[in-house]
Amino acid sequence: MANPCRTFSDVKRVILSAHENTGVQDKISFYDTWADNYEQDVALLEYQAPLLAAECVSSFFSSGRENARVLDVACGTGLVSAHLKKLGFHHFTGVDGSLRMLEMADKTRVYQQLTQCLIGQDEFPVEADSYDIVIIVGALSIGQVPVKVIQELWDATKPGGFVCMTTRANADNQKYKAKLEQELQLLEAEHKWSRVTVVEVEEWERAVSEKDSGYIPGTVYLYQKSM
Ligand SMILES: C[S@@+](CC[C@H](N)C(=O)[O-])C[C@H]1O[C@@H](n2cnc3c(N)ncnc32)[C@H](O)[C@@H]1O
Repeated sequence: MANPCRTFSDVKRVILSAHENTGVQDKISFYDTWADNYEQDVALLEYQAPLLAAECVSSFFSSGRENARVLDVACGTGLVSAHLKKLGFHHFTGVDGSLRMLEMADKTRVYQQLTQCLIGQDEFPVEADSYDIVIIVGALSIGQVPVKVIQELWDATKPGGFVCMTTRANADNQKYKAKLEQELQLLEAEHKWSRVTVVEVEEWERAVSEKDSGYIPGTVYLYQKSM
């Protein structure tokens, strides 16, 4: 059960404790323990990434959203798909490493299918060329989903389909962000997809680390797979 009395200081403490974790398995255990309070804590953080990413995809997706298949990678409790559902999408598959986050996602009744997978370690549980939209929000960052997974996101997307990704642009994530952008450009140079838009957002979410102040910036990337 979520604790309704939490404050921004509680959220800060929780997130900074996660930064002490080293491996991916540690991170997943962290999300297992955070699942109950996740949604109210990210509201205190003013975490806007799920809404911004959903609106970004929606604004470029012109035809047949009722039948479109969406793969929500690192779906967590389901915030991204909940926004997409409000924007007219109906068919959702979610993948995440944390069983507790998946249980919360299941309670939303938004997803037709939910699968546990340690992304970057387990085999990606998805057929090639099968989704109109592949979206990953809040998980492409240091210590979470490795950059090499971009190729798997591309594989899962139908020709002509969209891949939407987000990352943070704060000091700690700069190296990861640069590596991510290198990978995105590599696939573009190989004519595997083309860039639709990149949206830089100054006030992505409230900063929790001493190294940042106020709000940290973040980025939404949208690519379209070549036909
Ligand atoms: C910040 S949450 C974002 C959840 C959701 N997309 C949102 O924006 O609210 C990050 C999610 O990524 C998942 N995650 C992080 N690294 C992962 C990995 N390597 N494999 C699978 N899931 C991972 C966590 O379990 C967590 O649910």
